[in-house]
Amino acid sequence: MAAPGESSAARRDVYRVEQLTKVYGSGDNAVHALRGVDFTVAEGAMLVLLGPSGSGKSTLLNILGGLDHASAGHAWFHDRDLTTFGDDALTEYRRRSIGFVFQFYNLVASLTARENVALITEIAQAPMDPAEALALVGLESRLDHFPAELSGGEQQRVAIARAIAKRPQVLLCDEPTGALDSETGTLVLAALDQVNRELGTTTFIITHNAVIADIADEVLMFGDGRITGRRHNAVRKAPGGLSW
Ligand SMILES: Nc1ncnc2c1ncn2[C@@H]1O[C@H](COP(=O)(O)OP(=O)(O)O)[C@@H](O)[C@H]1O
Ligand SMILES: [Mg+2]
Repeated sequence: MAAPGESSAARRDVYRVEQLTKVYGSGDNAVHALRGVDFTVAEGAMLVLLGPSGSGKSTLLNILGGLDHASAGHAWFHDRDLTTFGDDALTEYRRRSIGFVFQFYNLVASLTARENVALITEIAQAPMDPAEALALVGLESRLDHFPAELSGGEQQRVAIARAIAKRPQVLLCDEPTGALDSETGTLVLAALDQVNRELGTTTFIITHNAVIADIADEVLMFGDGRITGRRHNAVRKAPGGLSW
């Protein structure tokens, strides 16, 4: 029960997902990517979605991020059901509320780190200063470097700065360390950990690497389009302590 004077909104869920289902194709070619997924995500949580390739992780993230439509079920973002949104409403939701980080960084090669981040902040409503966003991911000394002058892990941290500079409520990361070795991968995870703690951004990290699950508050295990387990970590492990 809420304490006197405490708003219930203080502990609200960002997402509430019920029987979410996704089928690609139809008939004999139908692929059941999500077979009825249920979960809730508390505001500010760090979540890891862990599971083998093909288990439906990206499909779920794409639906939560407004990049794809569900086939059935519900996905509430606060009090609005994303599955009822048309394309325009999804685009608006994505622009305003969601930051994405993918395995490949997709930086503009002809722009510096600062300019890559500024591309986004120029069109956002109350953005961070690009230099501030880059400092948050540990790149304060790389502001004027071009992508080709940065390591893979540094480029991914620019991509994280770009994603969070518009202060999205939610950061969705699909295999953000998938192309990185352990040492640079942990620096990228440390940047995500820092963003989650400092900005309170609800953060999802998809991985098939079980070691990474220890940095999360909550771990959702995926198998064959279903959530096969959920674990709460009483203590979040510092990313710097991981290796794989
Ligand atoms: N656009 C698509 N068209 C058809 N099948 C797809 C598409 N995207 C994903 N799938 C299939 O859906 C299942 C789940 O895929 P995905 O969500 O990408 O899994 P994961 O991210 O866990 O590797 C897989 O069998 C995959 O081949
Ligand atoms: Mg995937």
